Amino acid sequence: MKSPTNGISVASSGETTGAAFDGALQGFSKLPRDERFRRLVAIGALTESEAQALKAGGLKDTTLAENFIENVIGYFQIPLGVATNFRIDGRDVVIPLAVEETSIVAAASKTAKWVRESGEIKTESLGHLIIGQIQVARVRNFDRFEAQVLAAKSDLINSANTDVAFGLVARGGGVEDIQVRKVDRGDGTFMAVVHVLADPCDAMGANIINQVCEYLKGPIESLTGDTVTMCILSNLVDTKLTRATVTINDIDEDLAQRIVEASLFSQVDPYRAATNNKGVMNGIDPILIATGNDWRAVEAGVHAYASRSGSYRSITKWSYMGGQLMGVLEAPIVVGTVGGVTKLHPTAQMSLNMLGVKSAAELSRICAAVGLVQNLGALKALTTVGIIEGHMKLHIRNLTLGAGASEREVPLVQKRLEEILMMTKRISLQNAVEVLREIRGDLRVDLRVDLRAPSKTESGTVT
Ligand code: MEV
Repeated sequence: MKSPTNGISVASSGETTGAAFDGALQGFSKLPRDERFRRLVAIGALTESEAQALKAGGLKDTTLAENFIENVIGYFQIPLGVATNFRIDGRDVVIPLAVEETSIVAAASKTAKWVRESGEIKTESLGHLIIGQIQVARVRNFDRFEAQVLAAKSDLINSANTDVAFGLVARGGGVEDIQVRKVDRGDGTFMAVVHVLADPCDAMGANIINQVCEYLKGPIESLTGDTVTMCILSNLVDTKLTRATVTINDIDEDLAQRIVEASLFSQVDPYRAATNNKGVMNGIDPILIATGNDWRAVEAGVHAYASRSGSYRSITKWSYMGGQLMGVLEAPIVVGTVGGVTKLHPTAQMSLNMLGVKSAAELSRICAAVGLVQNLGALKALTTVGIIEGHMKLHIRNLTLGAGASEREVPLVQKRLEEILMMTKRISLQNAVEVLREIRGDLRVDLRVDLRAPSKTESGTVT
């Protein structure tokens, strides 16, 4: 079928074919905003009404916000962009990213193009169970407690599924297992911790697992005579991991070795691991935000998982063999595609439609893929030109506006700042203020301005 508007061919299923996809999103960053919408609609990533809603500025009426949180006074808007060039498990997909940091979208799109042309991205899910915890802090006899709970395991699972998780059971999920852990209190004595394992289907599952654990509190206390201290889900969901693998073929050996060395750095040094993983989350958090998912939960889980060996490590690992660079990311990325904000927020729904995901597991796999690609982009930049060049090139516009340049002055200031960046390899707001002063030939611009918090008058003069 041909799009009536621009001749971009779209497969009759509504899914854009590879070649058409490539063509439609070529040079996307250089297109005017209206044309970006036109192309996204043409390939089926957005509907016409979604495009109109975005053009109109998204949500304004705070009724929805009142349903989400308390003491609402408005919305905090952050930019929503799309990363292009992603082909994940053989499927072309446009990635919505809600993020404020310069160069994340550009780096993701650029690195995805490299992978698309020279390699591939594959993903898989490892496990499907989330974890709820029931703590018995002062267990009187751990062995007896464990034996009593395990002997009643089937009854506890059945009653939790019948009385609480029946909706999940109807969708093919529900509570599947109960385990008992002996946890050292740090003083030579032990607490008992019951783990309740459940399949949340396409929900993130926090509410349901918390309800199940609170429901099981009564039966466990009657069964054992011990007192339950607290019940809550765990964000360290090592029973539901997601893995992404990226390969690049025929890579320059020197570049590959540099990336491998950078990867080793992040596996053996927690100071580097933290920054490496922050870069990975640069690819993951913006998808979580765009789709209305709980990014704090994923962050907590990822960092706890990164510490599972006893020291904090990278969640990605790159190796080079036989001319091929291969990266792997493995982490708990527990997300939902139904329920809560995901369902109610129109932009979250739009983002999910754009991704074309059919399950929460698929969304999680896309997050892992984008996180790994983002990591590759960062490592490539860090081990070659450095991060400043690309980042600051894109940051120049922010500096220009921060210095108070008017629309007319922006291109002139930007051009001059790019030259300074090329020459000195660094650039600051002070440079922008100085360039603006030169351009205006106007000494009224006060260079003693507080550079941390520039304020602008209507005319754009820094005050
Ligand atoms: C910056 O937001 C992210 C990086 O620091 C990631 C990394 O160092 O790998 C560039």
